[in-house]
Formats: sequence, C-alpha cells, structure tokens
Amino acid sequence: MKMKAAVLHAQGLPKPYAESTPYVIEEVDLEGPGPGEVLVEIRSAGLCHSDLTTMAGERARPLPFVGGHEGAGIVQEVGAGVQHLKPGDHVVMTIGGSCGVCRFCLKGKPQLCDAATQTRAEGRLPNGAMKMRLNGEPVKHYFGISAFAQYAVLTPDCLVKIDKAVPWDVAAIFGCAVATGVGAVLNTAQVRPGQHVAVFGLGGVGLSAVMGAKASGASRIIGIDLLDSKFDLARELGCTDCLRADDPELVQKVMDLTGGGVDVAIEVSGAMPALTSAWSLTAKTGEVIVVGLPKGGQTWPLDPTAMIFTEKTIRGSIMGGGIAMRDIPVYERMYLDGALQLNRLKSAEFGFDQINEGFDRLDRGEVIRQILLPHG
Ligand SMILES: NC(=O)c1ccc[n+]([C@@H]2O[C@H](COP(=O)([O-])OP(=O)(O)OC[C@H]3O[C@@H](n4cnc5c(N)ncnc54)[C@H](O)[C@@H]3O)[C@@H](O)[C@H]2O)c1
Ligand SMILES: [Zn+2]
Ligand SMILES: [Zn+2]
Repeated sequence: MKMKAAVLHAQGLPKPYAESTPYVIEEVDLEGPGPGEVLVEIRSAGLCHSDLTTMAGERARPLPFVGGHEGAGIVQEVGAGVQHLKPGDHVVMTIGGSCGVCRFCLKGKPQLCDAATQTRAEGRLPNGAMKMRLNGEPVKHYFGISAFAQYAVLTPDCLVKIDKAVPWDVAAIFGCAVATGVGAVLNTAQVRPGQHVAVFGLGGVGLSAVMGAKASGASRIIGIDLLDSKFDLARELGCTDCLRADDPELVQKVMDLTGGGVDVAIEVSGAMPALTSAWSLTAKTGEVIVVGLPKGGQTWPLDPTAMIFTEKTIRGSIMGGGIAMRDIPVYERMYLDGALQLNRLKSAEFGFDQINEGFDRLDRGEVIRQILLPHG
C-alpha cells in the first residue's frame, strides 16, 4: 500500500529546520504484514528530544529512514502467529523489540537485547525485515517503530494494547516519554514514600519523572531547568520547588531544602553541567540516574574516592529500565485513575506540514510534547 510518511534523508542539516527541511513528506510503499507482523493505522505520534539529536547528527543512523519512536494507532491486520492482538485493537507503539532468550531478555531487560540492538542499528524491524520502499529503494525503520507515518508494519513485541478510553494525543506519548520518565523513577530508582528527588530537565520525559515521583509518594520533588518558563507546569504536576540550573547557589539551596541532599537525582537534560550538579546535590548513599542523552562522544569525570566516602551510586536508565509490555498497562491505569496527568504534557498538535517547525520549537525549549496527527 501507499502511505504518507516523514522521511529523514540527511543528518546534520542547519537550523532552522523549517528552512533546511530534514524531514521530507514522501509517498512510501509499505508491504503488508507477514507472519508474526502487524499492520497499524497510526493515529498519533510524539516528537521527542532524541529525534532532535538524531536530526542534528549527534548519533549516526543509516539513512534514509521514516522517523518517530513513540505513537499509537489501530490494528488493521495481523499476520499468522500473532496471538495477543486483533484488528480494531488500540495499541501503543514502543521500543520493545527483543529476542526473549538472550541473557539480558531473561534478566528482564529487553531494551538491552543484543539481537534487537543490532537490528535497530541496521534500521530493520526486530525480526530483520524491511517493509518500506521509496521509488523502489528500501527505506529504513527507526527503532522498529517509524511512527511519523500513516501506517506501520511492526512486530508484536513493539505493540502494547491499551484501553479505548485513552485519547490518541495521550496514547502517543506512553511509548517513550512516559515509559522512560515514569520508569526511571519506579523501576530504576525505585523511589519510596518520603524520599527527596531532584529532576534535571523539565521536558516531556522529565515531567513524566516528576509525576512518577509524586505518585511514588516522594516528599520533596525539586525540578531544575535552565528555563523559568517550565516551572509553572512543573509545580502543577508535582514539583514542590523549582530552581534554575544556572543558579550559582543551586547545590546549597538543595542541600538546605533537603537536609543534606536528595536521595535520588534524575538527569533528564543530557547536559554535562547538569550531571555534575546532580552528582553534587545527591546525598550520601543517594543515587544519580542518567536518562538524558548527551551529544555523542562526551565523557564525564568521576572521582572514585568521592564515591567511596559518600557511597553514592550513578546508574543509567534506558527506556525506563523496565519491560514495556508489563509497565505501559500500569502507567495507563495510573493515567485513567488520575495519578499521572499525562494530558498536561501536550503543547500542540499538527499534521505533517509542521513537523520540521515542530522540531525547531522543541529545540528552542518552547514546548513540551507536540503530537503529530498523520491523518491530519
Ligand atoms: N534514556 C532514555 O531511554 C531516553 C529516552 C527518551 C529521551 N531521552 C533523552 O532525555 C532527554 C530529555 O528528552 P525530552 O524529550 O524530555 O527533551 P525536552 O527537550 O522536552 O526537555 C529537555 C529539557 O532540558 C532542559 N535543559 C537543557 N539544558 C539544561 C541544563 N543544563 N540543566 C537543566 N535543564 C536543562 C531544557 O530547557 C528542557 O526543558 C533528551 O536528552 C533525550 O534524548 C532518553
Ligand atoms: Zn524518545
Ligand atoms: Zn534478547
């Protein structure tokens, strides 16, 4: 079948993207689902900062590809052997592809699956297939998802069935922003009631972490960003305090607010100075969780002696450190019960014509989550 899709042909084009147009809206051929594959009509997709770093060329990807790694839609057709989905189901698309049998899958870490890491790097579906063509030439998949399109063929491990009560603009962001931010709190940090938490970077992922911390019963939740414009919403979603990342008194202020530092600092900006501050304002025995993706190749100095004498830990968290198929239904219930106000994260929605401008707005920090509606 033919469909409209946003294809990235080149990385590292100059800003503003509205002028250099890294995403080109193309008519792409999509092959129907084979055995173990599912055809989804995409109703909504979110724009994430990780898409921006890819556009900027900070992590090389095989080109051209159809972008987008969080989205939602309606199952149209299932291939032979697909058990848990049927036409008409509403699904969230997420980076869940995994072999199920390697040591990391068996450890409950499907996002670290060796086989899926390889197919993702090659721009294939987790089963190795490539289902899209442009002018007869193959077009790559993006993280096994490619949500900036009217339709997608995916493997069922990237699809989580959701309640039809969840509106499309909210369903769009479960796959990355919510899974990553809430998961970093619940799975990776395992925040407990009464703990003090700091979140650096109050975008879609960071604010999801703030809501996760509130739902966990954290006592102080300190939101930290370079932009004051993020603070009102952050307070409404659970921050007890908001501070500027470039405040020279930042560390001291957090020490005073928390009686010696936070139990958990979650870094969700990808900025190295934020990581340094996160480490400094974490209490002895506390933990720094690294979620924000820095520009490729950057390193960060760590003082092992300080680690010993403070017993602090630093830990990475990819896609919320959990299992999408298990966790997303939990986050969905938390949303439906009012514990996660995910509808508050939407800043705008638009069709394909505004996708490049949308990324300019995200880059300038003017928006939280913007939702692409591929059918207009
Ligand atoms: N680990 C993962 O699995 C995973 C998944 C998704 C996204 N990410 C990464 O998480 C980060 C956040 O993604 P997002 O979509 O929420 O981005 P976003 O652009 O919506 O938000 C980033 C926020 O960080 C703030 N910021 C920038 N520099 C800062 C600094 N020095 N100190 C404090 N705040 C600062 C910005 O003002 C902005 O509010 C990105 O780096 C993204 O690539 C990681
Ligand atoms: Zn993302
Ligand atoms: Zn595996």
